[in-house]
Amino acid sequence: MSDTPAVGPCYFVIFGATGNLASRKLLPALYHLEAAGRLNEDLRFIAFARREWRQDDWLAHMERALREALGGRFDRGLYDRFAARFDYVMGDLHDDAAYARLMEEISKPRMGSCENLVFYLAIRPADFDDVILHLNQAGINRQHGRHRIVVEKPFGEDLESARLLNVQLHKYFDEDQIYRIDHYLGKETVQNLLVFRFANTLVEPIWNRNYIDHVQITVAEDQGIGDRAGYYDRAGALRDMVQNHLMQLLTIVAMEPPAVLEADALRDEKVKVLRSIRPIPRQAVSSFAFRAQYTAGRVHGEPVPGYQDEPGVAAGSTTETFVAAKFYIDNWRWRHVPFYLRTGKRLAGQMSLIALRFKHPPQQLFRETPIERLDPNWILLSMQPSECMHMEIHAKRPGLGMRTRVVQLNASYRDPHEKPLEAYETLLLDVIEGDRSLFIRFDEVEWAWRVVDPILRHWMQERDFIHTYPAGSWGSQEANRLFDSEDHDWRNHL
Ligand code: BG6
Repeated sequence: MSDTPAVGPCYFVIFGATGNLASRKLLPALYHLEAAGRLNEDLRFIAFARREWRQDDWLAHMERALREALGGRFDRGLYDRFAARFDYVMGDLHDDAAYARLMEEISKPRMGSCENLVFYLAIRPADFDDVILHLNQAGINRQHGRHRIVVEKPFGEDLESARLLNVQLHKYFDEDQIYRIDHYLGKETVQNLLVFRFANTLVEPIWNRNYIDHVQITVAEDQGIGDRAGYYDRAGALRDMVQNHLMQLLTIVAMEPPAVLEADALRDEKVKVLRSIRPIPRQAVSSFAFRAQYTAGRVHGEPVPGYQDEPGVAAGSTTETFVAAKFYIDNWRWRHVPFYLRTGKRLAGQMSLIALRFKHPPQQLFRETPIERLDPNWILLSMQPSECMHMEIHAKRPGLGMRTRVVQLNASYRDPHEKPLEAYETLLLDVIEGDRSLFIRFDEVEWAWRVVDPILRHWMQERDFIHTYPAGSWGSQEANRLFDSEDHDWRNHL
């Protein structure tokens, strides 16, 4: 569903073009769109960044970044065509003169009558405000055309700053020009959750408190923070992952079926979930949320430094790189079912998994396997790196006697010949084509902040102390204190 007329932009300005996000995600995604022939002939990109570079330096940097991201898929001819669309504008985000140069670049006479611009803020959230103000002062967003502004997550640093940022944005942009991005919504395996739930009659009747004992949502990363300390040390895992990506996953797992498959109908259902999440009482935060930071260790056998020794991290930083949290959704479908969320950097493996554990059967029929020793049923929806759906069920163990064992029903999401689509490919194309369906509405952001704000505030008060875990582990054992029952444990594998 498109909110704006389908007039594509003619300039796509990337603020923070030399940063990690642009190099790892945006440029490769745009390159793939070029390869797929989805970029209009007259679309131009402006790479805006602080480094004192000339056009050639930028092009060399972009080529390196793309070669690294694409490996053997890098194609010289295609790259040349893609690179010819770029102009580098050097400037500090806080400097008026930089915006004047940008204005000059986009005011150059060009073919056709297109005047639409996209501003992509691939920068630290702390700088959003200033860029918006400067765009306005320079008169850039008052030009003709339907400009769009893309704001990366986290949207704000807490509930209050998110509200202020929203007010600020609305001074200069209409809601239908604002694209609040959470790239998890562009992942096909995340969209597949909706299909799994709402296209399968056999799933829906058991997807509730009558059958499900608890839900686990894990986004585990084996990577550290790379060169992102400037952003990450201020944000931490709660703001970086839980408030947005994990909350989005939670809402999709927990929501009611929407009346129609339209952006606002989906968002309405997601907001209802967020509103039903039981507020965490301030004095009980430690029973609901746990945070820790990695120390030196080995990941896949390779030694890696601790967080404190990562370049750019402030001495004595207590920023969390691991979060585990428990939420209850007080509605008819989910009351009393714990949702355990967990994310961390430098963990033992790369794994994004939604795991639903089912209740034990009410009757002990197979006496040779007592109920309490009967492994429960699980539904496992793996988003990355494996893209698959598993169901663990009991079957008779072959041989004499009536004993059971667990067998897996496995379905792969993608056939080997089907090319995976990067989330950013989908989302950047949506920005270019003016389709906001996969972007976040402000009330989603707001309610998600309301959920995590008490945790943030409590941790601020306790900022002198943080638990640790060795890099290459699954986080700290202390996180187990969140479990409601002794037979709950983290699911670390498919
Ligand atoms: C980003 C976070 O939004 O998501 C990063 O800022 C994190 O810290 C990344 O590494 C994870 O994304 P993906 O697509 O690799 O799961």
